[in-house]
Amino acid sequence: MNELGIVILAAGQGTRMKSKTPKVLHLVAGQPMIQHVLNSAAQFEGSRVVVVVGHGADAVRQRLGSQVEFVVQEQQLGTGHAVLQASPLLQGRCTAVLVLSGDMPLLSAETVRSLVETHTTSQATLTMLTTIVDGDAMGFGRIVRDGQGHVQAIVEEADATPEQLAIRELNCGLYCFDSSWLWEHLPQLPVSAKGEYYLTDLVRMAVEEERRIDSVLLRDCEEAVGINTRVQLAAAEAAMRGRLCRALMLSGVTIVDPASTYIDVGVSVGQDTVIYPNTYLHGNTAIGTDCLIGPNTIVRDSTVGDACRIEASVVEGAVIERGVSVGPFGHLRSGAHLAEGVHMGNFGEVKNSYLGPGVKMGHFSYVGDATIGRDVNIAAGTITCNYDGEKKHRTVIDEGAFVGSDTMLVAPVHIGAHARIGAGSVVTHDVPAGSTVYGVPARDHTPAADDRQ
Ligand code: UD1
Ligand code: CA
Repeated sequence: MNELGIVILAAGQGTRMKSKTPKVLHLVAGQPMIQHVLNSAAQFEGSRVVVVVGHGADAVRQRLGSQVEFVVQEQQLGTGHAVLQASPLLQGRCTAVLVLSGDMPLLSAETVRSLVETHTTSQATLTMLTTIVDGDAMGFGRIVRDGQGHVQAIVEEADATPEQLAIRELNCGLYCFDSSWLWEHLPQLPVSAKGEYYLTDLVRMAVEEERRIDSVLLRDCEEAVGINTRVQLAAAEAAMRGRLCRALMLSGVTIVDPASTYIDVGVSVGQDTVIYPNTYLHGNTAIGTDCLIGPNTIVRDSTVGDACRIEASVVEGAVIERGVSVGPFGHLRSGAHLAEGVHMGNFGEVKNSYLGPGVKMGHFSYVGDATIGRDVNIAAGTITCNYDGEKKHRTVIDEGAFVGSDTMLVAPVHIGAHARIGAGSVVTHDVPAGSTVYGVPARDHTPAADDRQ
Protein backbone atom coordinates (compact mmCIF):
# COMPACT_ATOMS: atom_id res chain seq x y z
CA MET A 1 0.00 0.00 0.00
CA ASN A 2 1.27 3.44 -0.90
CA GLU A 3 1.76 5.88 1.93
CA LEU A 4 0.26 8.83 0.15
CA GLY A 5 -2.42 9.32 -2.47
CA ILE A 6 -2.69 12.71 -4.13
CA VAL A 7 -5.84 14.36 -5.46
CA ILE A 8 -5.58 17.50 -7.56
CA LEU A 9 -8.79 19.43 -8.08
CA ALA A 10 -9.18 20.84 -11.56
CA ALA A 11 -12.80 20.42 -12.60
CA GLY A 12 -13.99 23.96 -12.01
CA GLN A 13 -14.84 26.12 -14.97
CA GLY A 14 -12.73 29.11 -14.11
CA THR A 15 -15.53 31.36 -15.31
CA ARG A 16 -13.71 34.53 -14.35
CA MET A 17 -10.84 33.79 -16.72
CA LYS A 18 -13.31 34.39 -19.59
CA SER A 19 -11.50 31.91 -21.77
CA LYS A 20 -12.02 28.96 -24.10
CA THR A 21 -9.02 27.35 -22.42
CA PRO A 22 -9.64 25.54 -19.13
CA LYS A 23 -8.26 27.62 -16.29
CA VAL A 24 -5.60 25.16 -15.17
CA LEU A 25 -4.06 25.11 -18.67
CA HIS A 26 -3.25 28.80 -18.74
CA LEU A 27 0.50 29.23 -18.71
CA VAL A 28 2.66 30.51 -15.89
CA ALA A 29 6.36 30.78 -16.75
CA GLY A 30 5.82 28.61 -19.80
CA GLN A 31 3.96 25.75 -18.14
CA PRO A 32 0.25 25.16 -17.54
CA MET A 33 -0.47 26.29 -13.99
CA ILE A 34 -1.50 22.77 -13.01
CA GLN A 35 1.90 21.50 -14.15
CA HIS A 36 3.53 23.58 -11.41
CA VAL A 37 1.27 21.81 -8.91
CA LEU A 38 2.22 18.44 -10.41
CA ASN A 39 5.89 19.40 -10.13
CA SER A 40 5.42 19.94 -6.39
CA ALA A 41 3.60 16.61 -6.11
CA ALA A 42 6.36 14.80 -7.98
CA GLN A 43 8.55 14.80 -4.85
CA PHE A 44 6.37 12.00 -3.42
CA GLU A 45 7.77 9.30 -5.61
CA GLY A 46 5.55 6.30 -6.10
CA SER A 47 2.42 8.16 -4.98
CA ARG A 48 -0.64 7.82 -7.12
CA VAL A 49 -1.71 11.20 -8.50
CA VAL A 50 -5.36 11.60 -9.49
CA VAL A 51 -6.51 14.75 -11.28
CA VAL A 52 -10.23 15.52 -11.03
CA VAL A 53 -11.31 17.00 -14.35
CA GLY A 54 -14.65 18.37 -15.54
CA HIS A 55 -14.74 21.54 -17.59
CA GLY A 56 -12.46 21.12 -20.57
CA ALA A 57 -11.62 17.59 -19.41
CA ASP A 58 -10.36 16.43 -22.80
CA ALA A 59 -7.98 19.35 -23.20
CA VAL A 60 -6.57 18.85 -19.70
CA ARG A 61 -6.11 15.11 -20.27
CA GLN A 62 -4.43 15.69 -23.57
CA ARG A 63 -2.06 18.29 -22.20
CA LEU A 64 -1.02 16.33 -19.10
CA GLY A 65 -0.88 12.93 -20.77
CA SER A 66 0.17 9.82 -18.92
CA GLN A 67 2.00 11.43 -16.00
CA VAL A 68 -1.20 11.23 -13.89
CA GLU A 69 -4.54 9.44 -13.72
CA PHE A 70 -7.83 11.18 -14.29
CA VAL A 71 -11.34 10.99 -12.92
CA VAL A 72 -14.21 13.00 -14.31
CA GLN A 73 -16.53 15.03 -12.14
CA GLU A 74 -19.49 15.38 -14.48
CA GLN A 75 -21.20 18.10 -12.47
CA GLN A 76 -19.27 20.56 -10.37
CA LEU A 77 -21.03 20.02 -7.07
CA GLY A 78 -18.27 21.38 -4.88
CA THR A 79 -14.81 20.57 -3.61
CA GLY A 80 -16.02 17.73 -1.35
CA HIS A 81 -17.87 16.10 -4.22
CA ALA A 82 -14.78 16.56 -6.40
CA VAL A 83 -12.49 14.68 -3.99
CA LEU A 84 -15.09 11.92 -3.68
CA GLN A 85 -14.69 11.19 -7.40
CA ALA A 86 -11.15 9.97 -6.72
CA SER A 87 -12.26 7.31 -4.24
CA PRO A 88 -12.44 4.41 -6.74
CA LEU A 89 -8.75 4.95 -7.50
CA LEU A 90 -7.47 5.66 -4.00
CA GLN A 91 -9.74 4.10 -1.39
CA GLY A 92 -8.00 1.25 0.40
CA ARG A 93 -4.77 1.97 -1.46
CA CYS A 94 -3.08 4.59 0.75
CA THR A 95 -2.89 5.68 4.35
CA ALA A 96 -3.06 9.43 3.77
CA VAL A 97 -4.58 11.59 1.06
CA LEU A 98 -3.13 14.93 0.05
CA VAL A 99 -5.57 17.32 -1.64
CA LEU A 100 -4.20 20.11 -3.84
CA SER A 101 -5.80 22.64 -6.17
CA GLY A 102 -4.77 22.87 -9.80
CA ASP A 103 -4.95 26.66 -9.74
CA MET A 104 -2.21 27.34 -7.17
CA PRO A 105 0.97 27.51 -9.26
CA LEU A 106 3.01 29.44 -6.69
CA LEU A 107 2.81 26.79 -4.03
CA SER A 108 6.33 25.58 -3.31
CA ALA A 109 7.36 21.97 -3.02
CA GLU A 110 8.71 22.71 0.50
CA THR A 111 5.31 23.92 1.69
CA VAL A 112 3.62 20.79 0.40
CA ARG A 113 6.30 18.66 2.03
CA SER A 114 5.94 20.36 5.40
CA LEU A 115 2.17 19.79 5.33
CA VAL A 116 2.63 16.09 4.65
CA GLU A 117 5.40 15.74 7.23
CA THR A 118 3.38 17.46 9.94
CA HIS A 119 0.43 15.25 9.15
CA THR A 120 2.49 12.08 9.22
CA THR A 121 4.23 12.99 12.47
CA SER A 122 1.16 14.13 14.39
CA GLN A 123 -1.07 11.35 13.06
CA ALA A 124 -3.92 13.83 12.83
CA THR A 125 -7.17 12.98 11.11
CA LEU A 126 -6.90 16.17 9.11
CA THR A 127 -4.07 18.65 8.61
CA MET A 128 -4.55 21.85 6.70
CA LEU A 129 -2.49 24.73 5.45
CA THR A 130 -3.48 28.18 6.68
CA THR A 131 -2.06 31.64 6.23
CA ILE A 132 -2.52 35.01 7.88
CA VAL A 133 -3.05 38.11 5.78
CA ASP A 134 -3.23 41.78 6.63
CA GLY A 135 -5.15 42.91 3.61
CA ASP A 136 -7.62 41.45 1.19
CA ALA A 137 -8.97 38.05 2.15
CA MET A 138 -11.55 37.95 -0.58
CA GLY A 139 -12.88 34.55 -1.42
CA PHE A 140 -10.97 32.58 1.18
CA GLY A 141 -12.55 30.43 3.88
CA ARG A 142 -11.90 31.72 7.40
CA ILE A 143 -10.34 29.54 10.10
CA VAL A 144 -12.44 29.61 13.26
CA ARG A 145 -10.57 28.62 16.45
CA ASP A 146 -11.72 28.23 20.04
CA GLY A 147 -10.24 29.90 23.13
CA GLN A 148 -7.43 27.30 23.28
CA GLY A 149 -6.58 27.87 19.65
CA HIS A 150 -8.07 24.60 18.43
CA VAL A 151 -9.60 24.70 14.99
CA GLN A 152 -13.38 24.59 15.17
CA ALA A 153 -14.43 25.13 11.58
CA ILE A 154 -13.68 26.61 8.21
CA VAL A 155 -16.37 29.06 7.29
CA GLU A 156 -16.79 29.99 3.65
CA GLU A 157 -16.90 33.68 2.97
CA ALA A 158 -20.45 33.56 1.64
CA ASP A 159 -21.66 31.95 4.87
CA ALA A 160 -19.57 33.98 7.33
CA THR A 161 -20.89 36.34 9.99
CA PRO A 162 -19.35 39.83 10.15
CA GLU A 163 -17.15 38.69 13.09
CA GLN A 164 -15.97 35.67 11.11
CA LEU A 165 -15.26 37.84 8.08
CA ALA A 166 -12.86 39.82 10.25
CA ILE A 167 -10.73 36.71 10.89
CA ARG A 168 -7.31 37.06 9.24
CA GLU A 169 -6.38 33.39 9.26
CA LEU A 170 -7.40 31.83 5.97
CA ASN A 171 -7.79 28.37 4.53
CA CYS A 172 -5.31 27.87 1.70
CA GLY A 173 -7.26 24.93 0.28
CA LEU A 174 -4.53 22.34 0.86
CA TYR A 175 -5.11 19.38 3.13
CA CYS A 176 -3.85 16.02 4.25
CA PHE A 177 -6.39 13.48 5.47
CA ASP A 178 -6.34 10.17 7.17
CA SER A 179 -7.45 8.08 4.23
CA SER A 180 -10.04 5.77 5.74
CA TRP A 181 -11.64 8.60 7.73
CA LEU A 182 -11.84 10.70 4.56
CA TRP A 183 -13.54 8.08 2.42
CA GLU A 184 -15.95 7.22 5.22
CA HIS A 185 -17.01 10.83 5.81
CA LEU A 186 -17.01 12.36 2.32
CA PRO A 187 -20.35 10.77 1.37
CA GLN A 188 -21.86 12.21 4.56
CA LEU A 189 -21.11 15.86 3.72
CA PRO A 190 -24.15 18.10 4.03
CA VAL A 191 -25.28 20.09 1.02
CA SER A 192 -24.65 23.84 1.35
CA ALA A 193 -27.07 26.66 0.73
CA LYS A 194 -25.43 26.99 -2.71
CA GLY A 195 -26.17 23.32 -3.40
CA GLU A 196 -22.53 22.29 -3.10
CA TYR A 197 -20.66 19.77 -1.00
CA TYR A 198 -17.85 21.67 0.71
CA LEU A 199 -14.69 19.76 1.50
CA THR A 200 -14.20 22.27 4.30
CA ASP A 201 -17.23 20.92 6.18
CA LEU A 202 -15.14 17.88 7.04
CA VAL A 203 -13.49 20.05 9.66
CA ARG A 204 -16.74 20.43 11.57
CA MET A 205 -17.30 16.67 11.36
CA ALA A 206 -13.86 15.96 12.73
CA VAL A 207 -14.44 18.44 15.57
CA GLU A 208 -17.72 16.75 16.47
CA GLU A 209 -15.95 13.41 16.67
CA GLU A 210 -13.17 15.00 18.74
CA ARG A 211 -10.61 14.02 16.15
CA ARG A 212 -7.19 15.56 16.04
CA ILE A 213 -6.96 18.48 13.62
CA ASP A 214 -3.62 20.02 12.84
CA SER A 215 -2.59 22.99 10.82
CA VAL A 216 0.56 24.34 9.22
CA LEU A 217 1.01 28.08 8.95
CA LEU A 218 2.26 29.31 5.60
CA ARG A 219 4.43 32.38 6.16
CA ASP A 220 4.68 33.56 2.58
CA CYS A 221 1.01 34.06 1.76
CA GLU A 222 1.88 34.73 -1.89
CA GLU A 223 2.13 30.93 -2.28
CA ALA A 224 -1.52 30.54 -1.38
CA VAL A 225 -2.80 32.63 -4.25
CA GLY A 226 -5.33 30.76 -6.35
CA ILE A 227 -5.69 32.06 -9.88
CA ASN A 228 -9.22 33.14 -10.70
CA THR A 229 -8.72 36.03 -13.11
CA ARG A 230 -6.17 37.08 -15.71
CA VAL A 231 -5.11 39.85 -13.39
CA GLN A 232 -4.05 37.21 -10.87
CA LEU A 233 -2.52 35.20 -13.70
CA ALA A 234 -0.24 38.13 -14.57
CA ALA A 235 0.65 38.63 -10.92
CA ALA A 236 1.51 34.93 -10.57
CA GLU A 237 3.59 35.11 -13.73
CA ALA A 238 5.55 38.05 -12.34
CA ALA A 239 6.06 36.33 -9.00
CA MET A 240 7.19 33.09 -10.61
CA ARG A 241 9.50 34.93 -12.97
CA GLY A 242 11.00 36.80 -10.02
CA ARG A 243 11.69 33.52 -8.26
CA LEU A 244 13.30 31.92 -11.30
CA CYS A 245 15.53 34.95 -11.93
CA ARG A 246 16.52 35.11 -8.27
CA ALA A 247 17.50 31.44 -8.25
CA LEU A 248 19.62 31.89 -11.38
CA MET A 249 21.32 35.00 -10.02
CA LEU A 250 22.14 33.18 -6.79
CA SER A 251 23.65 30.38 -8.85
CA GLY A 252 26.03 32.79 -10.58
CA VAL A 253 24.19 34.20 -13.59
CA THR A 254 24.14 37.97 -14.14
CA ILE A 255 20.69 39.22 -15.08
CA VAL A 256 21.03 42.88 -15.89
CA ASP A 257 17.32 43.64 -15.53
CA PRO A 258 15.23 40.84 -14.00
CA ALA A 259 12.03 42.81 -14.61
CA SER A 260 12.49 42.52 -18.37
CA THR A 261 13.88 38.99 -18.43
CA TYR A 262 11.44 36.15 -19.10
CA ILE A 263 12.72 32.71 -18.24
CA ASP A 264 10.57 29.58 -18.22
CA VAL A 265 10.64 26.90 -15.58
CA GLY A 266 13.16 24.23 -16.47
CA VAL A 267 15.55 26.46 -18.42
CA SER A 268 19.15 26.14 -17.26
CA VAL A 269 21.80 28.85 -17.52
CA GLY A 270 25.47 28.35 -16.72
CA GLN A 271 27.68 30.38 -14.42
CA ASP A 272 29.01 33.80 -15.47
CA THR A 273 26.59 34.08 -18.32
CA VAL A 274 25.19 37.59 -18.64
CA ILE A 275 21.58 38.07 -19.71
CA TYR A 276 20.73 41.51 -21.06
CA PRO A 277 17.28 43.09 -20.93
CA ASN A 278 14.29 42.01 -22.92
CA THR A 279 15.45 38.43 -23.28
CA TYR A 280 13.12 35.43 -23.37
CA LEU A 281 14.39 31.92 -22.62
CA HIS A 282 11.59 29.49 -23.32
CA GLY A 283 10.75 25.81 -23.20
CA ASN A 284 13.40 23.14 -23.19
CA THR A 285 16.40 25.44 -23.31
CA ALA A 286 19.88 25.15 -21.84
CA ILE A 287 22.43 27.96 -21.99
CA GLY A 288 26.09 27.30 -21.20
CA THR A 289 28.57 29.24 -19.10
CA ASP A 290 30.21 32.59 -19.97
CA CYS A 291 27.65 33.52 -22.62
CA LEU A 292 26.30 36.95 -23.46
CA ILE A 293 22.61 36.66 -24.29
CA GLY A 294 20.53 39.62 -25.46
CA PRO A 295 19.45 42.29 -25.37
CA ASN A 296 16.23 41.69 -27.32
CA THR A 297 16.68 37.97 -27.82
CA ILE A 298 14.36 34.98 -27.84
CA VAL A 299 15.73 31.48 -27.33
CA ARG A 300 13.20 28.66 -27.48
CA ASP A 301 13.77 24.91 -27.17
CA SER A 302 17.46 25.25 -27.93
CA THR A 303 20.86 24.32 -26.56
CA VAL A 304 23.57 26.95 -26.45
CA GLY A 305 27.15 25.98 -25.57
CA ASP A 306 29.65 27.89 -23.45
CA ALA A 307 31.08 31.29 -24.39
CA CYS A 308 28.50 32.14 -27.03
CA ARG A 309 27.21 35.58 -27.88
CA ILE A 310 23.64 35.97 -29.12
CA GLU A 311 22.46 39.50 -29.64
CA ALA A 312 19.05 40.75 -30.78
CA SER A 313 18.21 37.41 -32.36
CA VAL A 314 15.62 34.64 -32.42
CA VAL A 315 16.81 31.06 -31.85
CA GLU A 316 14.27 28.23 -32.09
CA GLY A 317 14.85 24.49 -32.00
CA ALA A 318 18.57 24.94 -32.57
CA VAL A 319 21.83 23.54 -31.26
CA ILE A 320 24.70 25.97 -30.88
CA GLU A 321 28.11 24.76 -29.85
CA ARG A 322 30.83 26.57 -27.96
CA GLY A 323 32.10 30.01 -28.94
CA VAL A 324 29.45 30.83 -31.54
CA SER A 325 28.30 34.38 -32.23
CA VAL A 326 24.88 35.16 -33.63
CA GLY A 327 23.38 38.48 -34.55
CA PRO A 328 22.38 41.13 -34.39
CA PHE A 329 19.16 40.11 -36.13
CA GLY A 330 19.90 36.44 -36.71
CA HIS A 331 17.20 33.82 -36.95
CA LEU A 332 17.98 30.19 -36.22
CA ARG A 333 15.08 27.90 -36.95
CA SER A 334 14.32 24.29 -36.23
CA GLY A 335 17.16 21.90 -36.96
CA ALA A 336 19.86 24.57 -37.16
CA HIS A 337 23.14 23.26 -35.75
CA LEU A 338 26.07 25.65 -35.49
CA ALA A 339 29.35 23.97 -34.62
CA GLU A 340 32.13 25.50 -32.53
CA GLY A 341 33.27 28.98 -33.44
CA VAL A 342 30.67 29.69 -36.13
CA HIS A 343 30.07 33.37 -36.78
CA MET A 344 26.62 34.24 -38.04
CA GLY A 345 26.28 37.98 -38.45
CA ASN A 346 23.41 40.33 -39.09
CA PHE A 347 20.30 39.31 -41.00
CA GLY A 348 21.17 35.64 -41.36
CA GLU A 349 18.68 32.79 -41.30
CA VAL A 350 19.57 29.13 -40.85
CA LYS A 351 17.08 26.27 -40.95
CA ASN A 352 17.58 22.51 -40.79
CA SER A 353 21.27 22.84 -41.54
CA TYR A 354 24.65 22.02 -40.08
CA LEU A 355 27.34 24.68 -40.18
CA GLY A 356 30.74 23.14 -39.43
CA PRO A 357 33.34 24.58 -37.08
CA GLY A 358 34.58 28.05 -37.97
CA VAL A 359 32.03 28.75 -40.73
CA LYS A 360 31.63 32.47 -41.38
CA MET A 361 28.31 33.76 -42.56
CA GLY A 362 28.53 37.45 -41.91
CA HIS A 363 25.67 39.22 -43.60
CA PHE A 364 22.24 38.78 -45.18
CA SER A 365 22.22 35.06 -45.98
CA TYR A 366 19.70 32.24 -45.97
CA VAL A 367 20.91 28.70 -45.43
CA GLY A 368 18.23 25.99 -45.45
CA ASP A 369 18.55 22.21 -45.74
CA ALA A 370 22.32 22.40 -46.05
CA THR A 371 25.41 20.70 -44.71
CA ILE A 372 28.37 23.02 -44.62
CA GLY A 373 31.89 21.88 -43.86
CA ARG A 374 34.54 23.42 -41.65
CA ASP A 375 35.83 26.95 -42.32
CA VAL A 376 33.56 27.65 -45.28
CA ASN A 377 33.09 31.34 -45.99
CA ILE A 378 29.59 32.38 -46.97
CA ALA A 379 29.74 35.94 -48.17
CA ALA A 380 27.00 38.56 -48.01
CA GLY A 381 23.66 37.77 -49.60
CA THR A 382 24.19 34.06 -50.27
CA ILE A 383 21.02 32.02 -50.59
CA THR A 384 20.39 28.30 -50.74
CA CYS A 385 17.47 27.95 -53.13
CA ASN A 386 16.19 24.84 -51.36
CA TYR A 387 12.59 24.78 -52.57
CA ASP A 388 11.57 24.19 -56.16
CA GLY A 389 7.89 24.84 -55.53
CA GLU A 390 7.20 21.21 -54.70
CA LYS A 391 10.08 19.70 -52.79
CA LYS A 392 12.94 20.74 -50.56
CA HIS A 393 16.46 19.87 -51.73
CA ARG A 394 19.81 19.79 -49.97
CA THR A 395 22.90 21.85 -50.50
CA VAL A 396 26.25 20.40 -49.49
CA ILE A 397 29.35 22.56 -49.26
CA ASP A 398 32.60 20.87 -48.35
CA GLU A 399 35.28 22.30 -46.12
CA GLY A 400 37.20 25.43 -46.94
CA ALA A 401 34.99 26.48 -49.88
CA PHE A 402 34.53 30.18 -50.58
CA VAL A 403 31.08 31.30 -51.65
CA GLY A 404 31.16 34.85 -53.05
CA SER A 405 28.65 37.57 -52.32
CA ASP A 406 25.14 37.37 -53.69
CA THR A 407 25.39 33.73 -54.78
CA MET A 408 22.30 31.59 -55.41
CA LEU A 409 22.92 27.90 -54.76
CA VAL A 410 20.14 26.08 -56.61
CA ALA A 411 19.64 22.81 -54.72
CA PRO A 412 20.27 19.97 -54.99
CA VAL A 413 23.83 21.03 -55.42
CA HIS A 414 27.24 19.99 -54.09
CA ILE A 415 30.18 22.36 -53.76
CA GLY A 416 33.48 20.53 -53.39
CA ALA A 417 36.18 21.31 -50.83
CA HIS A 418 38.11 24.57 -51.34
CA ALA A 419 36.06 25.46 -54.41
CA ARG A 420 35.58 29.17 -55.14
CA ILE A 421 32.37 30.75 -56.37
CA GLY A 422 32.53 34.28 -57.76
CA ALA A 423 30.19 37.04 -56.67
CA GLY A 424 26.74 37.16 -58.19
CA SER A 425 26.73 33.55 -59.41
CA VAL A 426 23.73 31.31 -59.86
CA VAL A 427 25.05 27.80 -59.23
CA THR A 428 22.89 25.16 -60.92
CA HIS A 429 25.42 22.32 -61.17
CA ASP A 430 27.80 20.63 -58.76
CA VAL A 431 31.15 22.38 -58.39
CA PRO A 432 34.20 20.07 -58.22
CA ALA A 433 36.63 20.41 -55.35
CA GLY A 434 39.28 23.07 -55.84
CA SER A 435 37.66 24.61 -58.92
CA THR A 436 36.52 28.19 -59.52
CA VAL A 437 33.13 29.04 -61.01
CA TYR A 438 31.18 32.20 -61.60
CA GLY A 439 28.45 33.67 -63.79
CA VAL A 440 24.79 33.08 -64.47
CA PRO A 441 24.53 30.18 -64.65
CA ALA A 442 27.91 29.57 -63.05
CA ARG A 443 30.55 28.02 -65.34
CA ASP A 444 33.98 26.65 -64.70
CA HIS A 445 36.69 29.30 -64.78
CA THR A 446 39.35 27.35 -63.00
CA PRO A 447 42.73 28.76 -64.10
CA ALA A 448 44.88 26.16 -65.87
CA ALA A 449 47.13 24.37 -63.45
CA ASP A 450 50.27 26.08 -64.78
CA ASP A 451 48.65 29.55 -64.60
CA ARG A 452 47.90 29.18 -60.94
CA GLN A 453 50.84 30.08 -58.71
C1 UD1 B 1 -11.82 26.89 -1.61
C2 UD1 B 1 -12.16 26.62 -0.14
C3 UD1 B 1 -11.84 27.84 0.69
C4 UD1 B 1 -10.38 28.18 0.51
C5 UD1 B 1 -10.06 28.39 -0.96
C6 UD1 B 1 -8.56 28.55 -1.14
C7 UD1 B 1 -14.06 25.09 -0.25
C8 UD1 B 1 -15.52 24.93 -0.08
N1 UD1 B 1 -13.55 26.29 -0.05
O1 UD1 B 1 -12.68 27.93 -2.02
O2 UD1 B 1 -12.11 27.59 2.05
O3 UD1 B 1 -10.07 29.34 1.24
O4 UD1 B 1 -10.45 27.23 -1.71
O5 UD1 B 1 -8.26 28.89 -2.45
O6 UD1 B 1 -13.41 24.13 -0.56
N2 UD1 B 1 -13.29 22.28 -7.94
C9 UD1 B 1 -13.65 21.10 -8.54
N3 UD1 B 1 -14.96 20.71 -8.54
C10 UD1 B 1 -15.90 21.45 -7.94
C11 UD1 B 1 -15.54 22.65 -7.31
C12 UD1 B 1 -14.22 23.04 -7.32
O7 UD1 B 1 -12.81 20.41 -9.11
O8 UD1 B 1 -17.07 21.01 -7.96
C13 UD1 B 1 -11.88 22.68 -7.96
C14 UD1 B 1 -11.66 23.99 -8.67
O9 UD1 B 1 -11.41 23.78 -10.05
C15 UD1 B 1 -10.44 24.52 -7.95
C16 UD1 B 1 -10.57 23.95 -6.54
O10 UD1 B 1 -11.46 22.88 -6.63
O11 UD1 B 1 -9.25 24.03 -8.51
C17 UD1 B 1 -11.09 24.98 -5.54
O12 UD1 B 1 -12.38 25.37 -5.94
P1 UD1 B 1 -12.87 26.86 -5.87
O13 UD1 B 1 -14.26 26.92 -6.40
O14 UD1 B 1 -11.87 27.76 -6.49
O15 UD1 B 1 -12.92 27.06 -4.30
P2 UD1 B 1 -12.85 28.42 -3.55
O16 UD1 B 1 -14.16 29.08 -3.65
O17 UD1 B 1 -11.66 29.16 -3.97
CA1 CA C 1 -10.25 29.26 -5.80
